[in-house]
Amino acid sequence: MHYIGSKERLLDFLQTQITLHVSKPLKQCRMCDLFAGAGSVSRHFAPQVAQLQCNDIEYYSYLINHAYLATASLQDYPEQLDALGGLKGHEGWITQHYTAQGGRLYFNDENARRIDAIRQEIETWMRSGRIDTQRYRLLLATLIVAASAVANTTSVFSAFLKTLKKSAQKPLVLQPLEITPQRASPHLIHNADANTLLPKLQGEILYLDPPYNLRQYGANYHLLESIAHYVPFTPQGKTGLGAYHSSAYSRRKDAFSALSNLLHQAHFEYIFLSYSSDGIINNDAIAHLMRRIGTYHQATIPHKRFNAKNATAASHRTTEFLHILHKPYM
Ligand SMILES: C[S@@+](CC[C@H](N)C(=O)[O-])C[C@H]1O[C@@H](n2cnc3c(N)ncnc32)[C@H](O)[C@@H]1O
Repeated sequence: MHYIGSKERLLDFLQTQITLHVSKPLKQCRMCDLFAGAGSVSRHFAPQVAQLQCNDIEYYSYLINHAYLATASLQDYPEQLDALGGLKGHEGWITQHYTAQGGRLYFNDENARRIDAIRQEIETWMRSGRIDTQRYRLLLATLIVAASAVANTTSVFSAFLKTLKKSAQKPLVLQPLEITPQRASPHLIHNADANTLLPKLQGEILYLDPPYNLRQYGANYHLLESIAHYVPFTPQGKTGLGAYHSSAYSRRKDAFSALSNLLHQAHFEYIFLSYSSDGIINNDAIAHLMRRIGTYHQATIPHKRFNAKNATAASHRTTEFLHILHKPYM
């Protein structure tokens, strides 16, 4: 899944910087990935640290991270995917509003009908007690990843293409997610606002990757959120957007004070903040803020940012900052 702001290509850089600056071995550290998104950083560090806490305000992200990091058993998973994948599609809420008939060509008719049928069946299984909440989240995450692979978009859902692109014409396939089953998972997955959650957490390493521009994730990924919740509403406008979380980090007037508040209330010894050179907060202002709180370092790396509007063209070049704060008195 292409995710805007994904740190997939920066994992080596993060690994080098985090091991360089943290004085203890990683396996003795509790780490928190507070704006986890599609989970690339969480998945990379989970096997290396004593405990990982992972959070995102979006429910689709929570489901995906929960599936990858906190699934205890994969027993019956392939059989359940076969049963869901073999269902005959039928018209439901997604088909009515997010296909050609609804005037919004996000999915072809057949895939939308199958999304409706599969989503409803997962709900029925949950309500009847056939599956537990952990399996419910795993199956929903599998559906979300599959739906995003056949969406007729340039990867974000703020717009759909006028005609069906090749991948959107292919049938939806429920592929098993590549999960390492854990017997008793020590990882904790949250679905909360970062500033509300952080005061309740503590540990050694806090990784922060907040949105850095005005594009709200809730709006850009609204359809994944709608499939995740599957609570019908009357979609509005051309894109069929519903109500969505508006993040302070994507509002020019609120971003800096949200970040300042976050850093002040963090009970973590080392804080690593990723931020882009074309973010709405000036990187010098972040450095100045961190110097007032503790010992500060900075590392930078050139970055080819994924461009959802023109995914095939050469991606946009930026500089990725890693702001490093040591709060030794924690
Ligand atoms: C830059 S992305 C993170 C990308 C992630 N590191 C990855 O590699 O996939 C920022 C994430 O912050 C989340 N977010 C935005 N505002 C938030 C808030 N107030 N609390 C928690 N999460 C938030 C968004 O939903 C989005 O997934």
